[in-house]
Amino acid sequence: MSAQSVTQVSTDSIDDKSKRHFLIAATTVVGGIGAGFAAIPFILSLQPSAKTRAAGAPVEVDIGKLEMGQRIIVEWRGKPVWVVRRSEKNLADLVTLDSQLRDPNSEKIDQQPVYAKNAGRSIKSEYLVVVGICTHLGCSPSYVTEEDPVAKTLRADWKGGFFCPCHGSFFDLAGRVFQGVPAPTNLVVPPHKYLSDTRVIVGVDAEGA
Ligand code: FES
Repeated sequence: MSAQSVTQVSTDSIDDKSKRHFLIAATTVVGGIGAGFAAIPFILSLQPSAKTRAAGAPVEVDIGKLEMGQRIIVEWRGKPVWVVRRSEKNLADLVTLDSQLRDPNSEKIDQQPVYAKNAGRSIKSEYLVVVGICTHLGCSPSYVTEEDPVAKTLRADWKGGFFCPCHGSFFDLAGRVFQGVPAPTNLVVPPHKYLSDTRVIVGVDAEGA
């Protein structure tokens, strides 16, 4: 197996790109890339070889420096995958949203592995790992925290989550879609597993998916 990846941490919001900041963190791509490549920053990891992309090599992510509320973005199989660190309040808020959601209990089985069919749609409740592609027509939603000034202009009582500007779909901090928006299903949780408290690998899980 080989590996590549470097991670990008951002606290981007849709109205204030100046707030965006990035953290470069070494990761590993499982699959056939030399060890020296692992030290190359994320921007290069966005351009893996066609062979690597086709192989869909798993991507190992260092989450050791991810602060509460931050998001890491990595590329897996040509798609953005987000890792978001959620607070206890974020998790408590999720429970209050069920009645507003289209599939609060993640009944659509194709949208997550069995081990992520739970309240937080996660293995470790603190971390959401999700494919950052809207389930309507494939745009990449924006991450909007509860504290973001623009949040209140988007939706009343916003608890943080993701907004797709293409046609106005909303997802909560578990990637669950709200009712009354174009997106039909929750965001996809990819196969993944934890290698340690600070490292998660996307693209493979305990079942070898
Ligand atoms: S692509 Fe996201 S709402 Fe249409």
